[in-house]
Amino acid sequence: MQQITIRRPDDWHLHLRDGAMLRAVLPETARDFARAIIMPNLVPPVVTLADTVGYRDRILAALPKGAVFEPLMTLYLTEDTDPADVAAAAASGVVKAVKLYPAGATTNSHGGVRDLTRVLPVLEKMAEVGLPLCVHGEVTTPEVDIFDREAVFIDTVLDPLRRRLPGLRVVMEHITTEEGVAYASSAGPTLGATITTHHLILNRNHILAGGIRPHYYCLPVAKREKHRLALRAAATSGNPQFFLGTDSAPHTDALKEQACGCAGCFTATNTMPLLAHVFEEDGALDRLEAFTSLNGPAFYRLPVNQTTLRLVKHATPPPFPDKIVTEAGPVTVFNPGFPVHWRVEA
Ligand code: DOR
Ligand code: ZN
Repeated sequence: MQQITIRRPDDWHLHLRDGAMLRAVLPETARDFARAIIMPNLVPPVVTLADTVGYRDRILAALPKGAVFEPLMTLYLTEDTDPADVAAAAASGVVKAVKLYPAGATTNSHGGVRDLTRVLPVLEKMAEVGLPLCVHGEVTTPEVDIFDREAVFIDTVLDPLRRRLPGLRVVMEHITTEEGVAYASSAGPTLGATITTHHLILNRNHILAGGIRPHYYCLPVAKREKHRLALRAAATSGNPQFFLGTDSAPHTDALKEQACGCAGCFTATNTMPLLAHVFEEDGALDRLEAFTSLNGPAFYRLPVNQTTLRLVKHATPPPFPDKIVTEAGPVTVFNPGFPVHWRVEA
């Protein structure tokens, strides 16, 4: 029997939603993870310090009895965000980052930013107080092909922004391309990049060849195989700039399996076994802990977790649930399409 014990992981990019969905999905993350950066794209979005305090309280109230889990809150950046509120948010200790959604880029992003020059005072304040900016790195220009939107964003938005504000710490969220890997690798310690579990497993053929698979559709959309391989190399490299952000994003089956389905893969339930599989396949099990438990805290300037997580490899793949039940309907758990022999055990 093969096994590995690592420091308890954190998820540096997570969607928990609210209400009944929050109550259904939170235990899936809290089971394995000590902390998570909580995305603010609720309806309406979480835009002020007061909003984050309320949302954090609802998350804590939804935790199962005995669970030890710390939500690390984010503010949803709008063109009306007040630099003073952001400074107060940073000082409060509740808010660990501000999230930039280019308006229209993804789920509930219409309240996001259209014109970056309008949020420069906020970004300058963030650089001053050391609060990181988490970026959904895709342009929204309709003419730009969806598979090119990340690379174009890096050249036309991210790089100019970082040159203008070199003191701003930025996380490129859920990178999906070799261009993203190259840009992050060449940048200094003010830049981090999260990588999702599903982007280490999927390329665009998995979504589209032989039938359309809505549960593999997410944003940014999975790209060609060469990009997946670049992400695998980055995640398993041990390079401190890369860390896990699952982007686990629950939508009910009814919303995924329709003519215009929602974007998001729900990986909270089985991320750690999947990552053990991926890292073992690449001969990098000894670097799993860096990716899931060390590099993220270092970037966010937070202590590493003191508790641990044990993963055990079984001869027969242990079953995992294919769906979780929510009051709004079932949510399909990400199925990688291959047997997974690893399981988290006490
Ligand atoms: O696939 C995604 N789902 N990508 C995002 O950026 C948002 C997320 C969601 O909130 O459903
Ligand atoms: Zn997300």
